Amino acid sequence: MTGASQLVGRLAIVTGGSRGIGLATAIALRSAGAGVLICGRSADRLDTAAARIVAATASAAAGPVATAVADVRHPEQAQRLVESAVAQLGGVDILINNAGVGRFSPLAELTIDDWRETVDTNLSGVFYCCRAAIPAMKRRGGGWIINVSSLASTHPFAGGTAYCASKAGLNAFTEALMQEVRRDGIRVSCVLPGSVDTEFAGNEPSEDAGWKLAASDVAQTVVDLLRHPPRSLPSRVELRPSVPRS
Ligand SMILES: NC(=O)c1ccc[n+]([C@@H]2O[C@H](COP(=O)([O-])OP(=O)(O)OC[C@H]3O[C@@H](n4cnc5c(N)ncnc54)[C@H](OP(=O)(O)O)[C@@H]3O)[C@@H](O)[C@H]2O)c1
Repeated sequence: MTGASQLVGRLAIVTGGSRGIGLATAIALRSAGAGVLICGRSADRLDTAAARIVAATASAAAGPVATAVADVRHPEQAQRLVESAVAQLGGVDILINNAGVGRFSPLAELTIDDWRETVDTNLSGVFYCCRAAIPAMKRRGGGWIINVSSLASTHPFAGGTAYCASKAGLNAFTEALMQEVRRDGIRVSCVLPGSVDTEFAGNEPSEDAGWKLAASDVAQTVVDLLRHPPRSLPSRVELRPSVPRS
């Protein structure tokens, strides 16, 4: 992939593409000429999101838009997700592991289910999707995997044991995988955003959140990474609000 137009005709899976950062990333990718398949757990939310992607990218010389219901916590669903992308798009060049959840409470109140949902989605789900997608990427001569981590991975805080641990694990997973597959032409990176104005963890997007990053800021970072020339691998990007909440 080289030059400003290297995303034209590329085929991307965005997990958790039904809203927030994933939806903004799917829009940015298609605006740049890529075909996209978004996944999530709700067919209705995916249909709504797909219509928004088509509407937002109507003027682009854009590739296909597809959806697949998949819960990344289940390895067989991750496998079917990749098979669905191959069937609907024609292959996989790019995997954006964005699906994530946040369960925030003191450890004493954190349930076993909270812990499992967080680690199964944010860490194991990325493993399942990478494991399924890498053979498909190799068949197309290479690819790029971008994992959406968080600054919470490097700046842990009280009430964030499960979330911070899941994202710190994701950083280590990303770096190990990056070293493993780089000679196969597959680049692996992670993006660590600070606070983003989305519905994450039950947040309500609001005008008071103007200090936060927008989902489109993260999407722009993802697309900027994908435009790097083949010799260059920015393996970790930290993205902060320019001016933090006072
Ligand atoms: N917002 C922030 O402040 C912030 C900061 C740093 C990092 N991040 C990270 O950015 C990523 C996206 O967050 P966001 O703010 O855009 O959150 P969001 O608005 O809550 O969106 C999360 C997306 O993930 C999907 N999802 C959740 N669990 C899933 C599962 N098991 N399988 C498949 N899809 C699943 C959701 O769709 P369904 O519910 O329909 O499945 C939704 O599309 C997450 O990894 C998060 O940790 C967010």
